[in-house]
Amino acid sequence: MTVSKKMQSAQLIGMNEGLFNCPICSVRMGMVEYSRLVCENMHSFDLAKTGYVNLAPQSHTTKYDKSLFEARAKVMSSGFFEPVLDKLISIVKEHVEGIDRPVLLDAGCGEGTHLSSIHSQLQIESVGIGIDLAKEGIVAASKSYPGIIWSVADLAAMPFQDEQIDVILNVLSPANYAEFNRLLERGGIVVKVVPESGYLQELRKAFYGGKPHKEETDPVERFSEHFDDVVTDRITYAFTLLEGLLASLIQMTPLTWNAGDERIGQVLAEGMKEITIDLRVIVGKRR
Ligand SMILES: C[S@@+](CC[C@H](N)C(=O)[O-])C[C@H]1O[C@@H](n2cnc3c(N)ncnc32)[C@H](O)[C@@H]1O
Ligand SMILES: [Zn+2]
Repeated sequence: MTVSKKMQSAQLIGMNEGLFNCPICSVRMGMVEYSRLVCENMHSFDLAKTGYVNLAPQSHTTKYDKSLFEARAKVMSSGFFEPVLDKLISIVKEHVEGIDRPVLLDAGCGEGTHLSSIHSQLQIESVGIGIDLAKEGIVAASKSYPGIIWSVADLAAMPFQDEQIDVILNVLSPANYAEFNRLLERGGIVVKVVPESGYLQELRKAFYGGKPHKEETDPVERFSEHFDDVVTDRITYAFTLLEGLLASLIQMTPLTWNAGDERIGQVLAEGMKEITIDLRVIVGKRR
């Protein structure tokens, strides 16, 4: 007999129910009848058919929709992020060595490919949790990657108990450092990825004449205000765009949200051979 996605996920969440906190009243929750998480005050959250649980206090519509996440999954599975993922995996592996059943949380996980790769390559028993406010990302993640806890949730108010997480991943997503510090175990780490000046520069050039994206504050400086033993590493490479990937690349990034269909058509017709990946990985320890 095959176990349904929902049942598989209910068992996984049930085994880890002690991690959860009610998003409404902040008390403990437990798995009931392999179908819903219920808090001590009876707030109840059903598991969806694909096994994710929606713990966002209210529903949000975001510009991150189904087609964007499909495009993102296609680009990410093409090897686009491989050198970055290799780096993230080695950081996480080194940190969790010797920890019994480490807990990994990806805050702003999107369609879940990065967390799934990292979780599956750890080679030890670990708990993976991916949260994102965009429901379509979590739906896609839960369809593609069983064995991980997927939840629609706000990274600024995460539905988890204090001091339970060993590693927080935060890749190209907004952050809430007070919340990250609340969730991290003593000695736990945050691994954050931010864009550097050359990231997707060919796309920026095609759509905006190459004006560099200017961050208002230095992300490393801001990160260092909240975490100890901060180390950073810049990863830069050119990725060859095989046939058909340019359309997905254009579709997956907020960079092109304001571009008209006509300009998108022109860029597609002109084609693009390579795209620059230029990212900074920042790692720091809980204070
Ligand atoms: C550029 S995407 C990156 C997704 C994924 N980490 C990746 O690298 O493919 C940014 C993500 O942050 C999520 N996000 C933005 N604000 C959020 C919030 N307050 N709570 C949770 N997720 C949020 C978006 O829904 C989106 O999936
Ligand atoms: Zn409650």
